[in-house]
Amino acid sequence: ENGKLNVAIDGPAGAGKSTVARRVASELSYIYVDTGAMYRAVTYYMLRHEIEPEDVDSVLKHLRELSIELVPDANGQKVLLNGEDVSGPIRSREVTGIVSLYSQIEDLRAHLVELQRVMALRKGVVMDGRDIGTTVLPDAEVKIFMTASVKERALRRFNELEKTDDLTLEQLESDIAARDKLDQEREISPLRQADDAIVLDTTSMSIDEVVEHIVSRCYEVGREVDL
Ligand code: CDP
Ligand code: CDP
Repeated sequence: ENGKLNVAIDGPAGAGKSTVARRVASELSYIYVDTGAMYRAVTYYMLRHEIEPEDVDSVLKHLRELSIELVPDANGQKVLLNGEDVSGPIRSREVTGIVSLYSQIEDLRAHLVELQRVMALRKGVVMDGRDIGTTVLPDAEVKIFMTASVKERALRRFNELEKTDDLTLEQLESDIAARDKLDQEREISPLRQADDAIVLDTTSMSIDEVVEHIVSRCYEVGREVDL
């Protein structure tokens, strides 16, 4: 209707999803939605209230008191949790280490998926996560499944560290491998490529190449479906 389509980008940690999705959105003047940030914000909230992932009833009860907003800003987007900017703290190692346990909870996922679908109703959204092409937006016009070797993904995260961080490359690699396993093996919408997704192995691709590839695919599909 408005000439726009939806773009779903899935893949494991460090594949380059958010970096690329943000750039693709900006080139197309689309809205970027980081669904991982939503799972992280919920996790941060639960940790702060000392609610463990095993205590599903409490998690779901508290979920109702919590509002999550993604607000565009200079660096992509800010994450507001009940109005408070939590963009920094949701990236902590503590949150990263446990987010995959909260994201196994079926009703928690159902709640976030509903919010995500509403964000994409008017099209023109680039959404990244684990289950976007399979579950959240199965009708997305463009679906990308982005991967890279575990070594390369750990190295990318290593290069992002501050000098004061004392994480080793080996620690990062095993953290990432553990999270991949949980995300791939969970029962409810695991990390999996959609049948109609384009697979992009970015191990030896530059960010520009990946962005270029996806943007040209969007133009191609835009012509085909005559949006
Ligand atoms: O940026 P990074 O790849 O480290 O992770 P993220 O995209 O911020 O996602 C953090 C975690 O949230 C993932 O490891 C998943 O457990 C969960 N997640 C999910 O289950 N479904 C999504 N659509 C997005 C994230
Ligand atoms: O969102 P996801 O966890 O998939 O990855 P990310 O947070 O975008 O992190 C990817 C990191 O690898 C960033 O520091 C990028 O600068 C870098 N990178 C990339 O994204 N894509 C490449 N083809 C090469 C490097």
